[in-house]
Amino acid sequence: MEKKKIVILTGAGISAESGIATFRDANGLWEGHDVMEVASPEGWRKNPDLVLEFYNQRRKNALDAKPNPGHFALAQLEQKYEVTIITQNVDNLHERAGSTKVIHLHGSLFQSRSTIDENLVYDINGWELNAGHTCEKGSQLRPNIVWFGELVPLMESSIKETQEADIFMVVGTSLVVYPAAGLVHYVSKQVPVYVIDPHLPEITKQPNLHLIPEKAGVALPDLVTKLLLAA
Ligand code: APR
Repeated sequence: MEKKKIVILTGAGISAESGIATFRDANGLWEGHDVMEVASPEGWRKNPDLVLEFYNQRRKNALDAKPNPGHFALAQLEQKYEVTIITQNVDNLHERAGSTKVIHLHGSLFQSRSTIDENLVYDINGWELNAGHTCEKGSQLRPNIVWFGELVPLMESSIKETQEADIFMVVGTSLVVYPAAGLVHYVSKQVPVYVIDPHLPEITKQPNLHLIPEKAGVALPDLVTKLLLAA
């Protein structure tokens, strides 16, 4: 029998128990910075050194962090399901927990890209990307992260994945940042939707909605055990 497909949209909340700060739990500041200073093309133009240093620190934190039971549970789903994780997170904790198909909707801390040719993308080894690090055409490299006001290139493939889901999950996201938050609207009508978040986000009512107001690391191991038994 063909495996059912589970698609999971994750946000900062899934990495919270790994010690990585969420965005909107801290007065609109992100590790003490106005998000527009560190996560927008304007911020980059104004002060690239600040932006590079900011992401160097985020990269360092992500390297020090470890996947938590929520990440590991989602990886286990692959035993019996076809699984796609669509994450808004730029850390690599899903991959380190063992998930093999992860779409990084907002980019990755561990890649840089050219500032004159967006197709030139490179892996970052270690934690530093600094002024003077250039692409093969000689231009400064920037973090390969989708900033506010930028297009989300992986949106189209994420919509397709979402439309194909037999089961959909939303974990640890406030669902306030578009277009990511709009993915939920592409889920087919009768598909079960599980929402796991201690402060449940607003979500359109649908026939098969399961709201679980719990931390990811607590709720996901149980939910995954149930889904594996049901497969
Ligand atoms: N388990 C599950 N959810 C949690 C946990 C936890 N342990 N701790 C916090 N949360 C929830 C919060 O209740 C909140 O709903 O995680 C959510 C985090 O929301 P945000 O901080 O808004 O993060 P996110 O939705 O991922 O942000 C989206 O905004 O700044 C941009 O590009 C950035 O990808 C990011 C996007």
